[in-house]
Amino acid sequence: MQLMSILKRMEIFLRILLSTSCLLLVVFMVDCSPPENHIKCSSANTNCTITNSYGTFPDRSICQAANVAYPTTEEELISIVAEATRARRKVKVATRYSHSIPKLVCPDGQNGLLISTNYLNRTLEIDVQSMTMSVESGVSLRQLINEAAKAGLALPYSPYWWGLTIGGLLSTGAHGSTLWGKGSAIHDYVVALTIVSPGGSKDGYAKVRRLNETNSSELDAARVSLGVLGVISKRAIDIDIQYTKGDCHLQHFVTQNDRAGDPDDRGSTTSHVTLQLQPLFKRSISYVVKSDTDLGDQVASFGRQHEFADISWYPSQGKAVYRVDDRVSSNTSGNGLYDSIPFRSTLSLGLAVIRATEDTQESMKDPDGKCASAKLITSTLIQMAYGLTNNGLVFTGYPIIGYHNRLQSSGTCLDSPEDALITACPWDSRIKGEYFFQATFSISLSVVKSFIQDVQKLVKMEPRALCGLEQYNGILMRYVKASSAYLGKEDDALDFDITFYRNKDPAKPRLYEDILEEIEQLAVFKYGGLPHWGKNRNLVFSGALEKYKKAGAFLRVKEKYDPLGLFSNEWTDQVLGLKGETRKNLSRRKGMYPRFYSGAVTARDEGSVTADGLVVLQTQNQELLNNQ
Ligand SMILES: Cc1cc2nc3c(=O)[nH]c(=O)nc-3n(C[C@H](O)[C@H](O)[C@H](O)COP(=O)(O)OP(=O)(O)OC[C@H]3O[C@@H](n4cnc5c(N)ncnc54)[C@H](O)[C@@H]3O)c2cc1C
Ligand SMILES: *[C@@H]1O[C@H](CO)[C@@H](O)[C@H](O)[C@H]1NC(C)=O
Ligand SMILES: *[C@@H]1O[C@H](CO)[C@@H](O)[C@H](O)[C@H]1NC(C)=O
Ligand SMILES: *[C@@H]1O[C@H](CO)[C@@H](O)[C@H](O)[C@H]1NC(C)=O
Ligand SMILES: *[C@@H]1O[C@H](CO)[C@@H](O)[C@H](O)[C@H]1NC(C)=O
Ligand SMILES: *[C@@H]1O[C@H](CO)[C@@H](O)[C@H](O)[C@H]1NC(C)=O
Ligand SMILES: *[C@@H]1O[C@H](CO)[C@@H](O)[C@H](O)[C@H]1NC(C)=O
Repeated sequence: MQLMSILKRMEIFLRILLSTSCLLLVVFMVDCSPPENHIKCSSANTNCTITNSYGTFPDRSICQAANVAYPTTEEELISIVAEATRARRKVKVATRYSHSIPKLVCPDGQNGLLISTNYLNRTLEIDVQSMTMSVESGVSLRQLINEAAKAGLALPYSPYWWGLTIGGLLSTGAHGSTLWGKGSAIHDYVVALTIVSPGGSKDGYAKVRRLNETNSSELDAARVSLGVLGVISKRAIDIDIQYTKGDCHLQHFVTQNDRAGDPDDRGSTTSHVTLQLQPLFKRSISYVVKSDTDLGDQVASFGRQHEFADISWYPSQGKAVYRVDDRVSSNTSGNGLYDSIPFRSTLSLGLAVIRATEDTQESMKDPDGKCASAKLITSTLIQMAYGLTNNGLVFTGYPIIGYHNRLQSSGTCLDSPEDALITACPWDSRIKGEYFFQATFSISLSVVKSFIQDVQKLVKMEPRALCGLEQYNGILMRYVKASSAYLGKEDDALDFDITFYRNKDPAKPRLYEDILEEIEQLAVFKYGGLPHWGKNRNLVFSGALEKYKKAGAFLRVKEKYDPLGLFSNEWTDQVLGLKGETRKNLSRRKGMYPRFYSGAVTARDEGSVTADGLVVLQTQNQELLNNQ
């Protein structure tokens, strides 16, 4: 117990230290370690393995591939797809960091091919007049934001982490937070897109389709594709203009990286896009801490009131932090910057202590310890404005005012050169750092109040049960809008991001496993929540496709683009309901503790299957339906 209190005190110290670790290290002339390459090959690009940025998939396996190709041009990409198609090989696109949690990126078996978009990272064209930008699919969100800003343009809504690639974030439907305009998902700002799919012999075994908003309904299949339609090659995104210093002269801006030749491509991506001029684009952000008693009543109206609204919810502490965030006039002074604390380079030693504390709390079943840690962590983050500064250096108070491109996304832990892992991204699998799972789903605004109240009822029954997720900064709630994309959101909704402890030992369940599972099941079964395609444990995907009205249309496009299913794998087949019979014999698991949702199948202390949430719940889903 004394050890615990020492650890707790160290944690206070470290939390503060961590946030400034890179700053301190600069003083000592040490840099931070960038993430490793998650594709490893035993000999030059052959005999490879792939995992994700966390170093493990939900089932803790590592996937294999016979080889990896690194195309540098669209022509190379086409010939690689053609060759693979001719040989009928399984193919998957891999990105620089591979951030998705589920096994989206694995080519089935051992003979598959990975096509990396690592070198397809050029900005092709920025047309200020039409306010469009064409990029290759391996371009990172950070690159996109920066290049656009240089031309006085801005992507209005985006994920908060800039390490994602355009190809990856579209495939999984990634988003930021808004109920305004076309909503917060980047795929709803795509106006044209090129996709390379398997072809027949008359196509030379690869078919290139240039889809655009005005002439193709298939674009709505390709906006969010789970990567099963082929390789997204490049796209044009309609972006909002951002006047710089009140001066808006329209110009035609072609970046230095533009490649010579292929005028056809350029034509297909830049012409005839509806102009959406917007006023000068600065934002003003204030975080407001409130009690969560009326949270259910507040969420819908709060999202309509503030353009960039989001909410961080700390249910065990009974608190919600509202982000009051709006556009302001460009002559408002301020040069604020967002450098999210959890996305900064962090001292490995500190991470190890925090992880050890968490491991001890879990193994000693010490919810009070977890609640104390949670309070400390959240109050530190709130005090430090989550990493916002008024001028790029210090936080002196709200509001934070600044240009959108400096506030919309961050991720400085990706930046630095090697430092032998003295520092790293907090989830880097080479160090003893964060190891977690995420349950992420969106719930229609029409029923979200009841969902929130159900979670509040659970908290009333077990007040300490959700402290564990407050150690990961609580539940991030972000707004998403109904989309024309076949696998986009069906409804205006609130997206819940819930992060929680994962044990390195797959046989050990986490503390309050049952409550967490009940929340997941309430969300996806009782309230029809839609999963984030790039996150989640497998159970959340159970029966997911049936919730999409256009699922049939999506599958028809998939059949047309890739009839052999070369870009599909076991995981996508299962999620798309194409394979994987329901596991009839995996009926209700033992040791269930249903609370108030009679349909919930929850379990405590049940070993690896439950701890990792790997049970394909189709059968249970069926049971739930039968039982109602
Ligand atoms: C720290 C962190 C913060 C995050 N923040 C957010 C957030 O704020 N909002 C949000 O919505 N999500 C967020 N995510 C989740 C993220 O959106 C998804 O995991 C995203 O898909 C990852 O993008 P990636 O480039 O790493 O793609 P990967 O995970 O490598 O790939 C995803 C899928 O897309 C396919 N794919 C990739 N490129 C192509 C291509 N060119 N053509 C065809 N298929 C392709 C892959 O084969 C794979 O199936 C976050 C993730 C992390 C790790
Ligand atoms: C592939 O690599 C593994 C270990 O990384 C090795 O055991 C195996 O022999 C290799 N196979 C080939 C064909 O090189
Ligand atoms: C593209 O990626 C390569 C390899 O990671 C890198 O060397 C290069 O600087 C990147 N180009 C741009 C424009 O970012
Ligand atoms: C979309 O297609 C139409 C018709 O082919 C074409 O006129 C237009 O320029 C295209 N737009 C883009 C952005 O490629
Ligand atoms: C759509 O327009 C683009 C040009 O912008 C063209 O390349 C493509 O073939 C068109 N697609 C269809 C289905 O007409
Ligand atoms: C800012 O600009 C608006 C109009 O663009 C003007 O009405 C206002 O007075 C300006 N404010 C300041 C402080 O200059
Ligand atoms: C049924 O259960 C057995 C043993 O418990 C297991 O080996 C088998 O894989 C299960 N079948 C399915 C379809 O899950």
